[in-house]
Amino acid sequence: MDKFVIRGGKPLKGEVCISGAKNAAVAILPAVLLADGPCRIENLPRISDVNLIIRVMEKLGATVKMVDDSIAEIDPTAVSLYTVSEDMAKGMRASSYFLGALLGRLHRAQVAPPGGCDFGVRPIDQHIKGFEALGADVSIENNMVVCRANELMGGYVYLDVVSVGATINIMLAAVKAQGMTVIENAAREPHIVDLANFLNSMGANIMGAGTNVIKIRGVSHLRGTTYSIIPDQIEAGTYMVAAVATRGDVLINHVTPKHLESIIVKLAETGARIEQFDEAVRIRMDKPPRRCKVKTMPHPGFPTDMQPQITALLSLAEGDSTVIESVWDNRFRYIDELRKMGAQITVEGKRAEITGVPCLKHARVKATDLRAGAAMVIAALSCEGQSEIEDIIHIERGYENIVGKLSALGADICRVSMD
Ligand code: EPU
Repeated sequence: MDKFVIRGGKPLKGEVCISGAKNAAVAILPAVLLADGPCRIENLPRISDVNLIIRVMEKLGATVKMVDDSIAEIDPTAVSLYTVSEDMAKGMRASSYFLGALLGRLHRAQVAPPGGCDFGVRPIDQHIKGFEALGADVSIENNMVVCRANELMGGYVYLDVVSVGATINIMLAAVKAQGMTVIENAAREPHIVDLANFLNSMGANIMGAGTNVIKIRGVSHLRGTTYSIIPDQIEAGTYMVAAVATRGDVLINHVTPKHLESIIVKLAETGARIEQFDEAVRIRMDKPPRRCKVKTMPHPGFPTDMQPQITALLSLAEGDSTVIESVWDNRFRYIDELRKMGAQITVEGKRAEITGVPCLKHARVKATDLRAGAAMVIAALSCEGQSEIEDIIHIERGYENIVGKLSALGADICRVSMD
């Protein structure tokens, strides 16, 4: 197990290039299984979650050729297996997308319950409700989620909660079903739109992605295609917060500024100066951040996946801030780690009250999950002295080359073996 060693207190300065979006990539790769021919997927982030998805696809019978680090050519034509075992599924949440993709392709799927970051209970009842609305039988057998259908027919699904995963999984299962599927109260995240654009480029007929009603008219065949994944708005947001926390000046390249709106608005409230360009944002800060109130919401609200990072920043704000987590029941577990660095935060249920301090202090902490790990990196970069962050395996699930990118911005960070 390796750790990050960070000697903080240096403003981040320079330019950083954002990779393809993790949460789009982990949906689009399983969607390739629906194609009748090879697909070329570009702008894949080089992260462990993507590697794991590719390994699962190979196990199922797909041929995957990495043209370079970020481009894969995938031929799914030989895929006839429909089982994703526990050792493959438990590593990440997105393994559940093989349910929708295999159901859509083979009318049969058997996938062990998904893993991923631990935010308390992470149900898939809305995914199952969607599959059943399309005519599938869903059962739990030998600790596997098993889906079977003689044929899939379009159906009407109202999601009781706005769920990214359920919206994606129902799209995957419905795209080759007979007739029209309607998903009401659908998630609207940029990666939902990216998946719809990908499927439409294969010949699918999906309308309304990006709104809360998605209509899918089933088609019998999907052809192979070439597609480039959108930039990762959470990676971009993380570097923006790191720039503000270190009072830096960073040009963040290869982003879609529209996807960053809620993050830009909040960081501007803290006093950061932000300029937007066609495919870049520049962010500067030269004073302590101002207090503010943040409430996470499904897109286009402030993303829950930026909650730990902004909490780390607001620990340094002048005055008292409030962060309300309204997507996940239990996403404040990392606060104990932030407290080790001197943050003054009390948590009650889904609400964190933060009393800003002038500076955090270096410490040895753990990355308790992916975005919590990013928050620890930001906290460590902001303060003088040497911090150590353990369990970085979580961080590397979702951030490509974080050491290289931060080093290029002037950070003193290295990855050290703990053996
Ligand atoms: N929910 C249900 N039933 C369901 C599905 C979800 O009650 O069947 C609830 C969840 O418990 C949660 C809420 O609905 O309270 C939202 O969950 P959602 O299904 O939207 O989350 P997800 O699809 O499991 C994805 C991202 C997460 C991100 C959430 C919310 C991927 C692979 N994961 O998870 O990303 O937090 O959407 O935006 O896309 C991350 O990247 O760090 C990460 C955790």
